Amino acid sequence: SPRKFFVGGNWKMNGSKKEIEALVDTLKKGVQGDAVEVVVGCPAIYLQHTASILPSNIALSAQNCYKVSKGAFTGEISPAMIKDIGAPWVILGHSERRNVFGESDQLTADKVGHALSEGLKVIACIGEKLEEREAGKTEQVVLSQISALKPAIGQNWDKTVIAYEPVWAIGTGKTASPEQAQEVHAIIRDWLKNEVSSAVSESTRIIYGGSVTGANAKDLAKKPDIDGFLVGGASLKPEFVDICNSNA
Ligand code: G3H
Repeated sequence: SPRKFFVGGNWKMNGSKKEIEALVDTLKKGVQGDAVEVVVGCPAIYLQHTASILPSNIALSAQNCYKVSKGAFTGEISPAMIKDIGAPWVILGHSERRNVFGESDQLTADKVGHALSEGLKVIACIGEKLEEREAGKTEQVVLSQISALKPAIGQNWDKTVIAYEPVWAIGTGKTASPEQAQEVHAIIRDWLKNEVSSAVSESTRIIYGGSVTGANAKDLAKKPDIDGFLVGGASLKPEFVDICNSNA
């Protein structure tokens, strides 16, 4: 595959300086070489500290950012600030941003466009809710989410990773089966081919998120259109190393 295996850890609102130091120590020992691209998504307040202790083969990501570079937006952080402390990535459109904090497709697209224009790389998240899947609307929902991002991504597909995260699988222990995940990844890849280009379709990483563990990662990774993972709960544990190495 022309696509390098990609594993993102999304720590969400977890960790302390001490816990992050211990986790990074575990990752340093377990994630070696650069056969896999590993990125960790860290709470904003710990980005700088984490940047100072990460090994060079693990990159740093913020978990969110705002859609403009500076100004009167109390509590927000900008892509310029994320770059300034040395983090090259940002996660945008995560299910929790959309569903807990009510962020729309349009706001997500504005953030994606601004982050890319400032030179950040983006992990853009999409995924259907349980009731949407049960109503047979999975394809419609994920394609409408990715379509909303298309103008914002523009020519920057090489700086974008798409994370397919079915909401019903996030933090529930109900991992999508390899077949369920592959089916949606193939739909997204097909959309890229038809709506963007064959080259972009072949080179864009589409990663899966939702209750990925050290135990189920290998079987998911075998599927042809699953190019890696976005990991929540298990990214805080030593088994994250096994997930990073699941494509070996
Ligand atoms: O960004 C990560 C996803 O929300 C998955 O979280 O692995 O805890 O299910 P989880």
